[in-house]
Amino acid sequence: MAPRPTILDVDTGVDDALALLYAVASPEVELIGATSVMGNITVEQATENTLAVLEAAGRGDVEVAQGAARPLGRDHVPFPVVHGERGLGRAAPPPAAAKPSTRSAVDLIVGSARERPGEVLLIATGPLTNVALALREEPHLPDLLGGFALMGGAFARGGNVTPAAEANIWIDPLAAEEVFTVFSGADDARLPICVGLDVTERAVMRRPDLDAVCGPAPDSPLGRLIEGATSFYMDFYAAVVGEDGCRLHDPLAVAIAIDESLAGLVTTRVEVETDGRWTMGETVADLAGVRGSPWPVGWEPEANARVALEVAAEEFMERFVERVRSLVEARA
Ligand code: BDR
Ligand code: CA
Repeated sequence: MAPRPTILDVDTGVDDALALLYAVASPEVELIGATSVMGNITVEQATENTLAVLEAAGRGDVEVAQGAARPLGRDHVPFPVVHGERGLGRAAPPPAAAKPSTRSAVDLIVGSARERPGEVLLIATGPLTNVALALREEPHLPDLLGGFALMGGAFARGGNVTPAAEANIWIDPLAAEEVFTVFSGADDARLPICVGLDVTERAVMRRPDLDAVCGPAPDSPLGRLIEGATSFYMDFYAAVVGEDGCRLHDPLAVAIAIDESLAGLVTTRVEVETDGRWTMGETVADLAGVRGSPWPVGWEPEANARVALEVAAEEFMERFVERVRSLVEARA
């Protein structure tokens, strides 16, 4: 099958960086652009990191467009404890030679979808602010895109920022709500694929995986970037979560977006709590199937998402290590 034209919308962070590398290393992907959004760090830092990661991967030619600096209707508070002050842990790649695009993130997303209707796969691994703004600009985006997947949410389990909410949705719940609303009632194949904590917490990268990935060229710019970023992320997981390894949230979203057979997807309706002291950012999914319920509670019947509840985690990890290791080897 021909590679699919793909845009990654990222808040480059450690696992976003690994997601970009996985996309570059995947034969199913023709990476035509990356758009940055605030989240793990500021949007300016996310743009800088995205350019640096792509350059280290040998893809300094990919258009990188800057997006939203703040969530819809609230302030942005970066949380450096997870990804480090500058988002790439203890890696400090040199600034890329390439400059950000003169287009905005919204223009890149909407422009690409209009240029190649029905072809472009959009994968969001940060807060959904850019995607919500793109949908305001082009309400037909769900039909113009070839597919949309996101890392976000916690559907049959709790969150990671609060007991209820996952980070990407918690940062901008209004954007997430807007996105799910626009996709409501779309054909099954066009519904967003939601790769949430239910599955991403099963994709754990451990020290031997990291050694295998960097093994071919540990002292190359790409090898050093991956080691410095990922080891910091692993230290966070060890110290704060008590896990021997880090979770590959964002790479798993890319992997499932390009190969749905890795996941068990359930078509359902998702609503986002946009306020509530302890529930803001919660993704409420109709997994018990109350659609069609006779109770007058206002729950709409249309599906608006395909939620990943199962994952072939081992297969994904093998694929991840093999692909990113080959990229490191090629860049040695
Ligand atoms: C998500 O939050 C960020 O810290 C990660 O990059 C990922 O996108 C996981 O909740
Ligand atoms: Ca992210």
